[in-house]
Amino acid sequence: MSDVQLFSEEASAEVVAASFRHTPDPRLERVLTSLVHHLHAFVKDVELTQQEWESAVDFLTRTGHTSNEVRQEFILLSDVLGVSMLVETINHRTGGAATESTVLGPFHMVESPARALGDDIALDGKGTPCLVSGRVTGPDGEPLAGASVDVWQANEDGFYDVQQPTVQPAGNLRGLFRTDQDGRFWFRSVVPRYYPIPDDGPVGELLTATGRHPNRPAHLHFIVAAEGHRPVTTHVFVADSPYLDSDAVFGVKGSLVREVPEVDDPARAAEAGLPNPFRTLTVDVTLLRTVEEPS
Ligand code: BEZ
Ligand code: FE
Repeated sequence: MSDVQLFSEEASAEVVAASFRHTPDPRLERVLTSLVHHLHAFVKDVELTQQEWESAVDFLTRTGHTSNEVRQEFILLSDVLGVSMLVETINHRTGGAATESTVLGPFHMVESPARALGDDIALDGKGTPCLVSGRVTGPDGEPLAGASVDVWQANEDGFYDVQQPTVQPAGNLRGLFRTDQDGRFWFRSVVPRYYPIPDDGPVGELLTATGRHPNRPAHLHFIVAAEGHRPVTTHVFVADSPYLDSDAVFGVKGSLVREVPEVDDPARAAEAGLPNPFRTLTVDVTLLRTVEEPS
C-alpha cells in the first residue's frame, strides 16, 4: 500500500479534496475543493445524524421531482436560502454608479409582448391605475435612446399571467418597450401587489418548518438593456408594501424602493389615458458601459 492518506474523521476534507487533484479544469478543481471543505466543516459542526442525512436526501429528491419545465424548485430553494441574491450581487457589482440588480425570479418565462410607449399593460381590468415612467441613461447621465425595457408584474390577486393561463389574458402585465430619443419610457399599469412565492412544494415545507412566511413585497420586474452597456435585471419595490423587511427571497435593496404617490389632476389623467386620480411610479435606470469595471 502506498503512503496515500486514508479517510478519517479528522482528515476527511483533505482526503476527498485530494481526489480532485487531476481535474483538468482549474476552476472546477477550485470550486469542488472549496465545496468539500465547507460541506465537511458543516457536517462536523452540526454532527449530522444518519436520520438527518436521510431527510436531506429525501428533501432534495422531492425538490427534483417537483421541478419541471414550468417550475424550478431548486432555484426556489436557492432563492429562499439567499444564494440566488448572493450570486446575483457578487456578479453585478455596480460600485454605486449604476442601478442595482436583484433576482430574476421564475416568472420571466415568456417573451414579453412588444408594446408602444404609453400602452396599457393591465389587460385584466383589475388594480389601481398607475403611470410608470422613467429614463434610461449611461453612467454620465447621457440618455440611451432605443434601450429595451422589459417589464412584468403580478396582478391584483397576486399571480403572474403564466400561473393562471385560463384566468388571465396571455401577456397580462407584461411589456417590452423601447426608449425614445431622450431615453424615456412610459406605460400604463396598476400598482404592484405583494404575493406569495409557490409554497405548495418542499420549499414551502421548509418555510413552514422554520416559521417563515412565503411573501414577497410588491414589486415590478425590469430587464433593461442598451447597446454597448451592461444589462440590468432588477425590480422596483413599492415603498409602503408589507414584507419589505422580510422578503422571502431577500431581493430588497434600499436603492430599489420607490414611493408611488397619487396624482389628482384631471388634465394629466386625460393626457395619460388614465382615470383620475391615479398613482405614479418613476423608475430612472443607469447602465454601466460594457467595458467599464465598477470601482
Ligand atoms: C419573483 O419575484 O417573481 C420571484 C422571485 C423569486 C422566487 C419566486 C418569485
Ligand atoms: Fe415577482
